[in-house]
Amino acid sequence: MLNITAKSRLGKHLRQLQYMWQRPKEYGTTIDSTRASQEARQREIMARGLPKRKRIKDVKQILLVASGKGGVGKSTTAVNLATALKIVEPGKSIGLLDADVFGPSVPLMMNIHESPMVNQENLMEPLVNYGVKCMSMGFLIGEASPVVWRGLMVMSALDKLINQVAWGPLDYLIIDTPPGTGDTHLSLVQNLFIAGALLVTTPQKVALEVTRRGANMFKKLDIPVAGIVENMSTVTCPKCMTEISLFGNATLSLAKELGVDILQRIPMLESIAESSDSGKPIVLAAPKSRQAEIYKGLAKDVVTFLSRQEINTE
Ligand SMILES: Nc1ncnc2c1ncn2[C@@H]1O[C@H](COP(=O)(O)OP(=O)(O)OP(=O)(O)O)[C@@H](O)[C@H]1O
Ligand SMILES: [Mg+2]
Repeated sequence: MLNITAKSRLGKHLRQLQYMWQRPKEYGTTIDSTRASQEARQREIMARGLPKRKRIKDVKQILLVASGKGGVGKSTTAVNLATALKIVEPGKSIGLLDADVFGPSVPLMMNIHESPMVNQENLMEPLVNYGVKCMSMGFLIGEASPVVWRGLMVMSALDKLINQVAWGPLDYLIIDTPPGTGDTHLSLVQNLFIAGALLVTTPQKVALEVTRRGANMFKKLDIPVAGIVENMSTVTCPKCMTEISLFGNATLSLAKELGVDILQRIPMLESIAESSDSGKPIVLAAPKSRQAEIYKGLAKDVVTFLSRQEINTE
């Protein structure tokens, strides 16, 4: 049963509805004028343009490791790429930023389980392992703590991980991104001066479809795509050692469609997963292995690509 106040409120709403129903013309005009003013406001916002892409002081070039799909090996690629870059270009300084605020992988994969120190300028000192300067949300929260945040808090955390870190001079900053083409990617791409994006995908159609979306997002935002890394390309039968493509080979047609190269094909190997889990990337755990050579090849491809892109001199 409704109480008396609720009844009278209901009656008032019904009368309002009746009035609107009887005067559709006037209400139509109101909606139209609201829409017109919304459109005008949108035009005004667009006219102001996108936020200016900032450069991180002393960081010469930034490369995003991305893909639409989750679990395809972005973090594995980012970590092996960063350590391989240090081997291929020992004189260069390399940074690795884990932009996956909800599911950071860098602490485990780079075997870093400390918290960063804050220097006199109130900036966090990146933690260094294998010659690579690293920063991750995982360094700031407990290993088992869930991050249950809304978009704005994630953006502010990301801003701190980028701008409140004493990166020092870096030749290359590799950014491992979360799955998808969401807030994190948009925020990185709109706010930072990015030299390029490396797309990681597995050869299944379902992964490639999402990779296409990612590639189109970068295209729209004027970020050059360095190329595609086809991960989990093949598996080797442990009995007869024959290498087979489990998931077909549709990557090539996507690469052609996007006008980019497949830079490397990385086989699916237990040793790659094991070395990541143990905190020593395969390029260091088995430096003479075929898989380590592939990652070093990828590092050389990336160096070639970046040598053609603009360098930050700020
Ligand atoms: N080439 C490979 N061979 C064997 N295992 C691999 C290979 N690449 C990645 N893996 C394993 O697959 C799992 C997912 O990899 P990874 O965490 O790098 O993916 P991701 O794309 O970063 O995932 P997310 O989208 O959740 O961030 C990990 O256990 C990793 O060790
Ligand atoms: Mg990851």
